Order: sequence, then structure tokens, then C-alpha cells
Amino acid sequence: MMTRSIKKAGLMVAFMALATMNAGAQTYLNPNAPLEERVKDALSRMTTHEKIKLLHAQSKFTSAGVPRLGIRQLNMDDGPHGVREELEWNTWNPARWTNDYIVAFPSLTCLASTWNRGLSLAYGDAVSEEFAFRGKDIMLGPGVNIQRTPLNGRAFEYMGEDPYLAGEMVVPYIQAAQRNGVACCLKHFVLNDQETDRFAVNVNVSERAMHEIYLEPFRRVVEKAHVWTIMGSYNLWNGVHCCHNDALLNGILKKGWNWDGALVSDWGGTTNTWEAVHGGLDIEMGTYTDGKTKESNFGYDQYYLGNPFEQLIEEGKVPMSVLDEKASRVLRTIFRTAMNPNKVIGSQCSEAHYDVCRQVGEEGIVLLKNEKNILPLDASKYQKILVVGENATRSLTQGGGSSELKTLRDVSPLEAFQGLYGDKIDYAQGYYSGRTIYDQVDRIDPEKQAALKAEALQKAKSADLIIFVGGLNKNHGQDCENGDRESYNLSFGQNELIAELAKIQKNTIVVIFGGNPYAMPWLNQVKALTHCWYLGSEAGTALANVLSGKVCPSGKLPVTFAQKYEDYPYVKFGAEAYPGVNKQVYYKEDIFVGYRHFTTNNVKPLFPFGYGLSYTTFAYGKPTVTQENGNMVVSVQVTNTGKVAGKEIAQIYVNAPKTGLPRAARELKGFAKTRTLRPNESETLRITIPKEDLRYYDETAHDWALTKGTYTLHVGASVNDIRGHATITLD
Ligand code: BGC
Repeated sequence: MMTRSIKKAGLMVAFMALATMNAGAQTYLNPNAPLEERVKDALSRMTTHEKIKLLHAQSKFTSAGVPRLGIRQLNMDDGPHGVREELEWNTWNPARWTNDYIVAFPSLTCLASTWNRGLSLAYGDAVSEEFAFRGKDIMLGPGVNIQRTPLNGRAFEYMGEDPYLAGEMVVPYIQAAQRNGVACCLKHFVLNDQETDRFAVNVNVSERAMHEIYLEPFRRVVEKAHVWTIMGSYNLWNGVHCCHNDALLNGILKKGWNWDGALVSDWGGTTNTWEAVHGGLDIEMGTYTDGKTKESNFGYDQYYLGNPFEQLIEEGKVPMSVLDEKASRVLRTIFRTAMNPNKVIGSQCSEAHYDVCRQVGEEGIVLLKNEKNILPLDASKYQKILVVGENATRSLTQGGGSSELKTLRDVSPLEAFQGLYGDKIDYAQGYYSGRTIYDQVDRIDPEKQAALKAEALQKAKSADLIIFVGGLNKNHGQDCENGDRESYNLSFGQNELIAELAKIQKNTIVVIFGGNPYAMPWLNQVKALTHCWYLGSEAGTALANVLSGKVCPSGKLPVTFAQKYEDYPYVKFGAEAYPGVNKQVYYKEDIFVGYRHFTTNNVKPLFPFGYGLSYTTFAYGKPTVTQENGNMVVSVQVTNTGKVAGKEIAQIYVNAPKTGLPRAARELKGFAKTRTLRPNESETLRITIPKEDLRYYDETAHDWALTKGTYTLHVGASVNDIRGHATITLD
């Protein structure tokens, strides 16, 4: 990557010139003046109409600046895995530029699976350089909604089921991006945990679960990364849309957490002026569309925060202070990004970006099964390797909704295998899913499907190794916005196909792409299984490096894979708990989301949270805990006891003292990943847990509280693989 001084040089010269020209007189143009002074000064020079114009879209993805004063507009784009293709100014149609091909980075679920904060930093740095180069000020992402159901069509854009992991893993990403002068727009605040009825569903959740589970990753990001913008979600909470929910946005976010950024609506998420004015919304985007596809003839001035708001101000029905507060938040965002002298120039499709993409992929892939150590592949043992499955060739960066990307170059799994194993590789598609575009579901032609299957089974007979590459894709009804998955099963006949292939050839390895867990009735029949999330432009390279052993797998699950769908905690409560009845959904499992349920209620998962295999083994020393400056510091030695170099992720799960209040048997409160350890090499990990992270939310006091007594700190390789523990008493 370019050095920081070169990256920002051009902008710096321009700003210095402006600053000299306007020294003293126009504080808002002086990049060296304190931010709040720039905001105040700019605001004092603006007319009511100019202030109003800051608060709503002027095109699909921009909001206005103040041209008269030289205040720049805000350019936004999706997010979060790369810069979205340029769209026409006023429509959802591609602008058909030829210079907007970019790097697709792995999905955020994959990033979460690395449990590597350093990689998150590298990801945020690289992706924001691409945004800066494309002239963007706000990156619409990342997202930290909790993976409450494995059917959520957008789970691939989020960071798993645990608020601590999601919050921790996304902080370095945001810090790096904002250091480059690109604002992140953290999504979707809050409770946007399903895509079914996303525009209209009202979420009923206990105050405790709201704070401990659903708000918590957002709170961590506000506190630790000071994210500059946040996107309100479409759904409702307590009967009010989250894009202008006073209790949520003014009460919790702005006053409670002292957040000074700008709240951006989701596209089409604003529904009335009075609530938008008083409910904490600062920038209204995408109104009068369905958030993705439909157009309207309404002008941008007619937005809820446009003319109707201006009229309320003029008639004296809303005080100017309300408008000033919103305009200040937007100005702050402009000075932090578009008019930030430290904003980098950035770069697009640099080799350094592809490197980050590949590394995140390699560390995010999770090895779930490896019978008789069939992996890493010893290619000398096999004469004919048959690759089966659509995802071996299909671009998984297309589709999925707003996170769709137009890439310059992608390496598919098939290409990467051919590069490694040459003529030994043969390919059969095996099934097809149709190449659907957004929200049009293809019909599968049964004859075509049967012919593809027959071809694969025929070829399987003469192969001595099968690598099946399938899973979910970005079609509507799979991993795609605005709709949840229709089934927990893999679609398009894949379950039957895998089972039949494995009957013919016992050396069958399964590689699954997807943002969610799924049923695997064929698991006992196959030798190995790797779960790959979505790996972006370097998908094939990252996968081949792991399968061939060039890279030792080190990813671990950020989400529980249940034995069966019915084991997920909300399922027993019926449709009221998911997907809701009459647009009301009740989170009846309360705080017992994901592994909190599996560990507390003794339900055995198929693959637990935090689980992932390696090509080597690790031994844990006895953990010790000390108190330092009010924090707990857990030290544990991890030693590579196997034959190849690798990395291990140690996790700390806390068990609180019993008080009668329901508590999860285990809650993740710390983790660390080792550096690459050679055989016999050790590293002592030191993991700090601030005392306040042990608090629970007390619904009587409407505040966080800390229980006195003895806490057990379980140190493990997954939530179910505890290697040692220490205790600490708080009084
Ligand atoms: C999505 C957002 C996205 C926006 C703009 C909405 O439909 O929910 O995540 O940023 O569209 O594309």
C-alpha cells in the first residue's frame, strides 16, 4: 500500500491553498481549525433552505453540500465488502462505467471467523482505500446485526451470533477506514435480524435482551471506534420505525451513548415528517422507493425532511435548534470525510488489496471435518480429481442485493484447482440454481437438473477423489437481501447429489459457500467438510491454499451449527417468534440466542460456536488471572503440539455467580489468536477483560449492574472444548 504521506499529498495541497486564502475569516474552510468550530462557523453562514438541503438525498447515493459556500456533498456507496458498481444518478440502473471494477473482499461472516483483529484492521484499510479512490465519503457498512436465525438472508453481511465477537471484530475495520477519511455507516440499527417483512415487522424484545444482545455490538462500536455514521433499520421497535425512533435514536444512541455522528435512514426507511424531525434522523435517503428496485417521480425536495420540514420551521412549529442540531451532525460528517485534509487518495485493485482479500479468506475458512486427515490433500495419491458443483465456477460476488459487486478479476475454485493439479482435474456442474437477478426467483427445469446430476455421477465412477463445491448462493431466497431462506436445507438437490457421489467414491470432500448454517444429512458419508462463507475475488486461491496445506486452517465458527433446525432457540415458540404473525415478532428466547441457548439448556450442537479444526494440534497451559487497574488479565500458554505450523484461537467464556437471575452458562468475554506457531513453539496469550464487560442489564434499574461473587473464566478452543479455567471474586 502507498505510504500515508503520498496518499494524502494531493488533498493536503488543495486544502492548504484554501486555508491560506481564507485564513481567519472562514473558519469552516480551515482544515486546522477544531472540528466543532468549523461546524459552528459553517452553520452560522447558512440559510434555512441550505440547512434543509443537507438532510436528504439529492440522488440515489449522494446528499447535498452547500455549493455557495464551497461545502462538499457526501458521496455514499454500498458496502460492506467492496465499492458497489456506479449507478445512474437517479435510478437503480448501472451507469455502465468502465472504471468501476473493484476487489471483492470476503463477506463479513468470513472476517468474523478469522477472530483476527489485525486482519480486520487490514480489511478496513484496504476496502476504504478503494472507497476513497472512487470518491466516496461514506461506506454503507459494516453490519453487526445478530445472527438470530440461520434463515436470515443477510446474515453473510453480519458478524455472527455473539455481540462481543461482532463488536470486537468490527472495531479495527472501522478505525482503519475512518483513519483514511472514509466514514463507515454501521448497519442496521437495530433488530433487523430477518429479511421477511423487513419493512413492516415490529420487534418485541425484552429490555434486557435488547441491551445485552442486540444493542451491544453497536454500543461497543460507538464507544471504541466512534463510528461517524449509523444507518437506521427498516423494521419497527415498540411500534415505531427504527429510522426515526425517538427512544432508540435520541434516547439510547445520542443521549445515552453520547454519540455525535449522523444517523442515515435506510433507503426508503423514512415514513413521515414529524417522526423524522423528532425521532433522531439526520439524513433521509431512498424515500419513495422500495429500498432497492422501484422508482418514483417524486423530487428530492419532496422528501419528508425536505419541503415539509422547511415549512414546519417557517411556520414556527419546529424550532430552528432542531434543524441546527441535525445540520451540525451532517456538517461534522462532511468535515470528517469529504473536507478532511487527511483523507487518503486511495487506490483501486492494488495487489496489496488482493493480498488482504486472500489472507482474510484463508483465515476465515473453517475446517469442520477431516476424517483420517484426508486434508491437506496429498495430490500424489490421486490420478483423477473430479470437481462437482456450481459454486466451483459461479461468481458469488454477484447477487445478494446491495452488497453485489462488479469485480475486475476473480479466481474461481475450479481455476485454482486446475492451477494446482493440472490435468488431474475434471469438472461436472452436478446441479444448477439459475442465474437470477435481484428478487426474481428462477424455476428449475427438472430435466436439465437430472441431466447434470447424471453426468456428475457418471464421471464420479472413474475419479479417485471428489471435491464437491456447492452450498448457498446470492439468489433471492438464499443469501440475499429482502427475503429469508426458504429452508434450512441446501437447495437444488444438493443433499441427494452429495450422498450419491459419496456412495460412489468414499474420498469425497465437501466445500460449502454460504453465510448461514444448513442441514447436512450426508455428513457421515463424506471425509471432509470446509465451510467457506463468501471469499471474494481471491476465493479460489484462498480455498486451494487451505486444501493443499500451503495454509494451515485457523478459522472458527462465529455461529452455532445445530444438529437440526428445530434446535435453534426460537423455533419451539412457533411463528410468533419467527418470522412473526401479523407483522409482530416476539423474541421469546430472550437472551438465550445462539450458543447461550445450546450451553445453558444442554442442547448438543453439530458444530459449536468457536469450533474449527486445524492441521496441527494445540495444548493449553493452566490459565492464570490477575487484576490490573480494575481489569482482569487472563494469561494462558498455547503450544503447537502437532507437526505443522499453525495458529490457534483461545476463547474465554465467563460463568457468572448464581443469583436467581437467569444467566447464560457461558458468555464470550475475551479471545486472542496466536501468531503462527511452529511445532513445539509456545506463545503466552494475555487477554484483558474489563470488569464492566461482566455486567448484566438490570430491567428494574434500567441500567447495567455487576453481580458480586465468584466468576469462573473458562478458557477453551471452542465453547464446548474447555481446556482450563480460573476464578475471580468480585466484591
Ligand atoms: C439496504 C441497505 C443499503 C441500501 C442502499 C437497502 O435496501 O437495506 O443496507 O445500504 O439499500 O443500497
